[in-house]
Amino acid sequence: MINAVVIYHSGYGHTERMAAAVAEGAGATLIAINAEGNIAEEGWAKLSGADVILFGSPTYMGGPSWQFKKFADASSKPWFEGKWVNKIFGGFTNSASINGDKLNTLAYFFLLAGQHGGIWVNMDIKSSNTKASLRDDLNRMGSNIGPMAQTPADASPEEMSSGDLETARRYGARVANIAARFHPVNA
Ligand SMILES: Cc1cc2nc3c(=O)[nH]c(=O)nc-3n(C[C@H](O)[C@H](O)[C@H](O)COP(=O)(O)O)c2cc1C
Repeated sequence: MINAVVIYHSGYGHTERMAAAVAEGAGATLIAINAEGNIAEEGWAKLSGADVILFGSPTYMGGPSWQFKKFADASSKPWFEGKWVNKIFGGFTNSASINGDKLNTLAYFFLLAGQHGGIWVNMDIKSSNTKASLRDDLNRMGSNIGPMAQTPADASPEEMSSGDLETARRYGARVANIAARFHPVNA
């Protein structure tokens, strides 16, 4: 079995639902970054022991939340020790606007994985972009480096697009499958 961890922040529960979908697909353990931007020491140990790390954050003001960034800055400690080198990485985000500058959040996750010497997994789901496209289609956001969800500002987590959540679940499964190719003994 691949040892996968989803590390995420969610202010109001929407990105948390997406994180659960990614974790379901990947068979991953979930670690929540709390409102102060911290995780327990045990969480750091889990991340260092993981084959796969998946980053998740809402897009706030065009990038990851400050709580996620605090976590990212704290990851300079495992970076210094090279603890995350050659792990398989991915990431996901959710925001209110259709565009909402979500790409910047995913691009930041990609760079963070790069700083750690990791290997990033892209998407493999074609965009749903025809006149017949619907809100619950797969990859209706047309994202390629990781899944995006769009949740209207006045919608509860329960009202999220089932297509966005299924896209997230399939991405989690894809990342775990790719990781298994790097860990054939454990696969
Ligand atoms: C401080 C703040 C900044 C936000 N900035 C953006 C933004 O740049 N783009 C966008 O589309 N939505 C933005 N939103 C909306 C959130 O991304 C959206 O409500 C999301 O579903 C929240 O996810 P969460 O419940 O996991 O925190 C912002 C919300 C907050 C609270």
